[in-house]
Amino acid sequence: MTALVFLDPSHPAGRVADAASPQLSVLDQGVTRGDGVFESALYTGGVVRKLEAHLARMAVSAASCDLSMPSAEAWRAAIATAVAAYDAARPSSGPGAAAGTAGDTHEAVVKLVATRGLESAGHGTSWVAVSPASELGRRQRTAGVAVVLLDRGYDSTVAERAPWLLMGAKTLSYAVNMAALRHARRNGADDVIFVSSDGRVLEGPTSTVLLAVRDGDTKRLITPMLETGILPGTTQGAIFAAAEAAGWELGYGPLVPQHLMEADAVWLVSSVRLLAPVNSLDGIDIARDARLHEELTAMVDAIR
Ligand SMILES: Cc1ncc(COP(=O)(O)O)c(C=O)c1O
Repeated sequence: MTALVFLDPSHPAGRVADAASPQLSVLDQGVTRGDGVFESALYTGGVVRKLEAHLARMAVSAASCDLSMPSAEAWRAAIATAVAAYDAARPSSGPGAAAGTAGDTHEAVVKLVATRGLESAGHGTSWVAVSPASELGRRQRTAGVAVVLLDRGYDSTVAERAPWLLMGAKTLSYAVNMAALRHARRNGADDVIFVSSDGRVLEGPTSTVLLAVRDGDTKRLITPMLETGILPGTTQGAIFAAAEAAGWELGYGPLVPQHLMEADAVWLVSSVRLLAPVNSLDGIDIARDARLHEELTAMVDAIR
């Protein structure tokens, strides 16, 4: 079941629509050119997690594409309408846990999309869709993932030299990211870590890379530097804030694949799947420190 709400100036709380019937023009530039931006947030326990961080990043993505977008207030109103419609249409997830309350363990994806709209319209098309989160993502939180390293074909300085490539913006043009995932699966892996043409670790097609190193009593959490043209992850940001408060040291790349091979744990982190521990890289098993994973999982579970 998917709940769908369009942002529409004549409906301040959003316009509810039927996700099972056609709603979008075939001429919308979001469809014909992948010209638009999006966000995917986790809805569970009655809370859309990190909503403000998602809205803030979406505004940055839109600005980098010169795309005008509805206000944060309009998004919040449409999201509230969409999650209420979603909750009303499904059973509760257990005794004492009515749909949309704090004890509700059901997980859904809240997808926010803003396209450039029809060429003739002069305004964009924006909507919120709420759908069940995938079972596979939840399984990978405990089972972990086998990862292949794939060349992204750009060097690590491209974002600064070529801003028109929109590196680091969350645009609708994810065909390349999805093709990389299919390539990984054809080769017996679950996921991908992109590497720049000059050998720097970048990100997954739908995730941020995190690694942890234990050095005596010191625990260090490291992620690739943003200047390499990667998307600033909202999950990585929230984990770093929690880890810093818990006394961990934090670091930002540059990272090379050898750092991943030598770490005590590596994860792919993202808003809906949350923490997926990496079991192997290019077929070689890597360390998976169970205590570090437990500590980070507790931090992720506490994110609101
Ligand atoms: C390319 C890319 N990097 C990183 C992420 C993780 O971002 P977040 O933690 O905000 O979901 C995503 C999320 O889909 C992504 O598409």
